[in-house]
Amino acid sequence: MNLSIYKDYNDLSEHAAETIIALVSRTPDAVLCLASGDTPLLTYQLVVRKAIKNGIDFSQCTFVGLDEWVGVPPTNEGSCHYFFYHHLFQPLRISNGQIHLFDALSPDLAQECRKMEKIIYAKNGIDLMLVGIGMNGHIGFNEPGVSPNRYAHVVELDEITRAVGQKYFPQPVVLSRGITLGLQSFLEAKCAVLLASGVKKASVIRQTVEDEISPALPASIIRNHSNGHMMLDEAAASALTGKGTSQAI
Ligand code: F6R
Repeated sequence: MNLSIYKDYNDLSEHAAETIIALVSRTPDAVLCLASGDTPLLTYQLVVRKAIKNGIDFSQCTFVGLDEWVGVPPTNEGSCHYFFYHHLFQPLRISNGQIHLFDALSPDLAQECRKMEKIIYAKNGIDLMLVGIGMNGHIGFNEPGVSPNRYAHVVELDEITRAVGQKYFPQPVVLSRGITLGLQSFLEAKCAVLLASGVKKASVIRQTVEDEISPALPASIIRNHSNGHMMLDEAAASALTGKGTSQAI
C-alpha cells in the first residue's frame, strides 16, 4: 500500500482530481466507482473544472455505484444518486447509458446486487475505486464485522453510520439499511484509492494504517490491495506514529 500525505484538503483534492483526470486521459473507457460524501466533494469539483478547461473526454467512461441508502429516493439531496448527478454527471454531461447506480427503492435488492456485479464483470472490472472512510472504519457501506469475501450486498447500518449520515440530509431521515459493493469488489478493483481529510479522521486512520488488518476495521483491507493508495491530508495523518506506514503487504 502506498501512503501519501498532503498539506491540506485543497492539496489532497487537487492530487485526487489529477489521479482521476490522468486515468481518463490514459484510458478513455475507464470504469470508475466513486464514493459520495464530504471528503471527495472538492475532488469532483476540480475534476469538472479540469475536464472542461483541458477538454478531457468522459464520454466513453462507465460509472458504477459504490453504495446507496436503502429506501431513500434519488430526488432526496442526501442520496448518493443526487450527489453524483449534481456534482459530476450533469456538469460533465455524462449520458444515462454510462451510469449504473443501485436502485435503492427496488423491491428486489438482491437483484440490484446481481445487476451491479454483472455490469462490473461485463466491463472487465473496475479501473478505479475511490472511497472515503467512515468514523467507524467503513468503506462504502462495509460496516465493522463484514466478511472480506463479499461482493455487492445489503447491510444493516451501524449506529455510527446512521447518526453521522444525517449530515447529508436537509431533514432528519430514518437510515437503517444500505446497499453496497463489498470488500471483495474493492480488492478486485485494478486501483483502489482511499481519501481522508481532517483531524476527526485521525484516530480511525491511525487504526487503519497501524493496527491489525481486520474485518473489525473494514478500511484496513486496503493494505491487502496490490495497488492500494491512501491519500491523506496532514490533519487526517496527524495521529500516525510511523509504526505501520511502510507496512506494504
Ligand atoms: C459514501 C460512502 C461512505 C463515505 C464515508 C465517509 O458513498 O461510501 O463510506 O465515504 O462515510 O464520508 P465523508 O467523506 O462524508 O466523511
